[in-house]
Amino acid sequence: MSKWASRDVISMIDFDREELEELFELALRMEKYAHSRLSLLEDKILAVAFFEPSTRTRLSFETAMLRLGGKVIGFSGEEATSIAKGESFADTIRMLDVYADAIVVRHYLEGAAKYAAEIADNPVINAGDGSQNHPTQAMLDLYTIWRELGRVDDITVGVLGDLKYARTIRSLIEGLSKFRVRKIYLISPPALKPRKELLDILERAGIRYEYTERLQDVIQDLDVLYVVRIQRERLPDPVEYERIRGSYRVTIDVLRRAKDSLIVLHPLPRVDELPYEIDQTKHARYFRQAAYGVPVRMALLTLIFDRADKVP
Ligand code: NCD
Repeated sequence: MSKWASRDVISMIDFDREELEELFELALRMEKYAHSRLSLLEDKILAVAFFEPSTRTRLSFETAMLRLGGKVIGFSGEEATSIAKGESFADTIRMLDVYADAIVVRHYLEGAAKYAAEIADNPVINAGDGSQNHPTQAMLDLYTIWRELGRVDDITVGVLGDLKYARTIRSLIEGLSKFRVRKIYLISPPALKPRKELLDILERAGIRYEYTERLQDVIQDLDVLYVVRIQRERLPDPVEYERIRGSYRVTIDVLRRAKDSLIVLHPLPRVDELPYEIDQTKHARYFRQAAYGVPVRMALLTLIFDRADKVP
């Protein structure tokens, strides 16, 4: 039995390099089925429980499950569930655990997915918990780097934006720490500087890093530029958002100084930090990155349901 079988997916720290590479190899094989159908999970039901808005994560999980021949149940927004009548999160998870074979959870509270995993007997997959973790996003981000650049080792990565609240950044950095990256530049306006926790992750992993407020000073060194929006919903004060919105932005001008091979990634949604004109440049990979969400999640579900040996 593979180490992936029946596993909860809560945080990137739980996965080692070898396991991630196993996932990438399978995702690569899944690419050819991302627009057709495999009959691998016909007996399985996936529950998707989204307590917070989502476009890509929820729909790519659903697409992945349907492409594998499985079925999906779930909800998006707790107002559509009995939570609106006062039911607890724990009881909601208990019910999904009875109906389905695995549960994907997104929640605005940190630790919600871990708590769900303690309640449920079936595997729980964290699709984002507050400002903490978003492991499956990091898996597809790393896959995009591996697929587009042919390696995750020996690269210099710039992460630009809300380094304080973006869970995608934390999970990406935890994921990158499994590989031998050359250096990580942390780039943000002062108000969105990384918290100590994030720096501790880098320190513990022994990764070289540097903080800067100016993308233009480091752009020429980067192999990957990973951009995130300001996590408006996590800022304690709406006035603060008005103050810092628009405080960073990728421009055509700054990209002129980049390596030809630089790839620009973004988990999406974007707001104003990544203007549409960047889409036309040779560097833009964020839509392809979003598309890779389907084969990566197909691979993930196949591994968790222990059916990788059945893939033709
Ligand atoms: C991210 C998230 O939800 O954390 N989106 C996603 O899953 N693709 C990033 C974000 O919302 O900014």
